[in-house]
Amino acid sequence: MKIPLYHNESGHFFEGNVPEHIAIIMDGNGRWAQKRGLPRAAGHKEGISAVVKIVKAAVKCGVKVLTLYTFSTENWKRPKAEVDTILKLPQEFLHAYLPELMANHVRIHTIGDIERLPFHTRKAVQFAVERTRHNTGLQLNFALNYGSRHEILHAVKEIAADIKQGKLTLDQVDEQKFSQYLYTADFPDPDLLIRTGGEKRLSNYLLWQLAYTEFWFTDSLWPDFSEEEFYRALEDYGQRNRRYGGLSG
Ligand code: IPE
Ligand code: IPE
Ligand code: MG
Repeated sequence: MKIPLYHNESGHFFEGNVPEHIAIIMDGNGRWAQKRGLPRAAGHKEGISAVVKIVKAAVKCGVKVLTLYTFSTENWKRPKAEVDTILKLPQEFLHAYLPELMANHVRIHTIGDIERLPFHTRKAVQFAVERTRHNTGLQLNFALNYGSRHEILHAVKEIAADIKQGKLTLDQVDEQKFSQYLYTADFPDPDLLIRTGGEKRLSNYLLWQLAYTEFWFTDSLWPDFSEEEFYRALEDYGQRNRRYGGLSG
């Protein structure tokens, strides 16, 4: 979608395309807390306020899909107490904000192996998915126990099983078909990837889906990531020339 002129509440104007799908690696919660002499858990809790701000900003801009990296398959390596804290956040967030999400027509989804999450986490997200399933606004997608390599292997195994059972032929397996076996089957590939926290890596996030995505990195720690900075990322994105291997238009 091309928007000719957009301005946010602080009167900031920009021109360009709004990304349809934005994926975010919300990194830096632990360092945010450590810098203040607080336990890492305090950083994760503060991260919720940034989620609320950015979801509202995305709704305002007409973004269609927002995919948030919330817990990776590798994050189980952390101390149990920290894992427990992180896996309580979806409940806390949804308990506090579900009415507001409903009012904004936000639809909740998850990607990742949610069967392995604690029951309370799974129950809270499944309730929100069910409750919001008829909403037609922003699709808010939480990557929970998500790992891209796991997702790709899972897809390969399912395809192999379907071929074995005669539901699919080898010739039918093309890029489009493969994408349908991924957790993200219902979504277009992300147009923009934002990573906060200063690291320049993907950390096993959406490896297939990010093939032609524009990347935007910031040193801001996730709890400090502001609406203003989000608009800056969108503004930068609007200036990019996406060529997909072809020639510039
Ligand atoms: C991101 O913040 C949140 C999760 C990984 C769940 P971190 O906890 O990784 O914060 P840093 O990178 O240690 O600062
Ligand atoms: C990526 O952050 C995962 C999430 C934000 C959920 P990490 O903090 O786990 O990534 P690494 O370990 O620095 O690569
Ligand atoms: Mg980190």
